[in-house]
Parts: sequence; structure tokens; C-alpha cells
Amino acid sequence: MRNDENRDPAYVLGHSERELARLERQAGFFADMTRDILLRAGLKPGMRVLDVGCGVGDVTAIAADLVGPSGGVLGIDISAEALAIADERMRAAGRGQVRFTATPLEAFEGLDGFDAVIGRFILVHMADPAAVLSSLASRARNGATIAFIEMDMSTATAIPPLPLLAANIGRIIELYRKVGRQMDMGSHLFAAYRAAGLAPQLAGFTRIAGGGEEAGFEFVTESVRSLMPVMGKLGIATPEEIGIDTLQARLIAEAGTGEHCIFYPRLVGAWATTGTVVTK
Ligand SMILES: C[S@@+](CC[C@H](N)C(=O)[O-])C[C@H]1O[C@@H](n2cnc3c(N)ncnc32)[C@H](O)[C@@H]1O
Repeated sequence: MRNDENRDPAYVLGHSERELARLERQAGFFADMTRDILLRAGLKPGMRVLDVGCGVGDVTAIAADLVGPSGGVLGIDISAEALAIADERMRAAGRGQVRFTATPLEAFEGLDGFDAVIGRFILVHMADPAAVLSSLASRARNGATIAFIEMDMSTATAIPPLPLLAANIGRIIELYRKVGRQMDMGSHLFAAYRAAGLAPQLAGFTRIAGGGEEAGFEFVTESVRSLMPVMGKLGIATPEEIGIDTLQARLIAEAGTGEHCIFYPRLVGAWATTGTVVTK
């Protein structure tokens, strides 16, 4: 397994093999809702779409299916490892309308060649999401769609409460806050779009699992695992306090017979058209 010691401090999750696998599993939870948001945002056959911060290609694949073989999707990311996996997955699924390029979104040239610029779980990693939106919108062609999807981790909860689950969600939120990022970015999409001079439409969804869906506990465990080195450095929790090797089992045990209702983080989508006059 690749050691990820040299992680980009600006991107706290890193790109270990395990993290890339986590991205793929996480995408499974949010696939239907993401497709719904992209449909509402107007993705349709024949469109040319840019997916920024595409990771291992889950949103890219949804966009590719919406634009069809007559359209095209370009996925960009800073991680060549993620793009290699994404490329292999697209090839295996026969999605010939998809290409990938390793580049930071800040440096990407040629935005005016796309009908839509989309991204999921990427603005949360930006120091100034509104400035990123503003830059993308100003470089995109007039009339292009700018559609982003983010979650709000602070809305994740269980009824009745599960203290160990809440404590670990709290650690994740604290980490993002300490590195100057908003783990509730989904709830701030409206403000970020407005600050960027865009007039967004929005939709929000919550995945709810009654009866002890164990995959949710794996999702939290693997998120904590990816963030653990930074949690240690920032004094949020030591590896001993986290106990990563037994965390998932303890979360499952805490939920007992599965009578808890688990509310996943709210997913929020926002989309706007460039060149639309914003009235304040
Ligand atoms: C949490 S992942 C989300 C991946 C994918 N959009 C999804 O929803 O499954 C965020 C991705 O953004 C990429 N990323 C971070 N900073 C970036 C930047 N400045 N430019 C392009 N990609 C970036 C990371 O490498 C990572 O693959």
C-alpha cells in the first residue's frame, strides 16, 4: 500500500489507496442524489461538461451517462493516482466520451469550451470557495452552467443518539474547522454563489437509514482513518484515543440491534448560469 506521508497539507484527506477506495464507497451513498441534482441543473445529451476535483470518477460517470455518447466529459484532479483509477473504470464501463487531465482547477485553461462546470466535495477543500466559483464563472463561457454539490457534516446524526458516532463526527468537523475549511459547506453554497455574483437554484437531500446500516459506520471509520495523521498533528485525537482498528466494530456494537435511525450528512446542490444578472 502506498504510504501517503507527503500529503498536500491543503488537501487533508490525502490520496492513499485506502482513501481512494473510500471515495468510491462514499460515492455509492450519494449517487442517486447527485444524478438528481445534475438533472435539475440541466445536464442533457450532447453537452460538454468539465468535472473539477473528479477523484476516481464517480461524478464524471454520472455526468457521462447524462450527456450520452454525443456529449463529452473532462475530469480534472491534482491526483494522478486517482485519475489512473478513474480512467480504468471508464474504459471498463465503455464510457468513451470521458477524458481525464491531471491539473489543479486553478490552473486549468480552456473553461470556455464547456457547457457546464461541475464538482462535488471539492469546494470544501478550497480556502475561499466563493473566489473559486467567481474565477470559474468568469472563465466559463456566457450561458454555461456552474453546478456544485457539497455536504453538511454537522447535520449527520442518529436518533436515539449514538455518542461514539457523534464524537467521531465531531472530530472530523473540528479538523476541518482547524484547517480553515467548512465541513458544512453544503449549507453555505447559497452564500458562496451569491458572493461570486451568481444566482443559484438549490436542492437538498438526506440519506436516512433505519435499522443499522453498517456501511455508514464504515464510512465514518474510513473518513477518520484518512484524517488521522492530521488529527494527531492538530491535537484533536491521538491514534490511541481513536483506536482505528476497533472503531468500526465499536460503532456497530453501539448501535446494538439497529433500532437507531441514522441521518447521513445533508447533500446540497447549487447551480446557476453564467451571465445572469444578480439583483441584490
Ligand atoms: C473528496 S474528493 C471528491 C472526489 C469526487 N468529486 C467525488 O465526489 O467523488 C476531492 C478531490 O478533489 C481533488 N482536489 C483537491 N484540490 C484540488 C485542486 N486544487 N484542483 C483539482 N482537484 C483537487 C482531490 O485530489 C480529490 O480527488
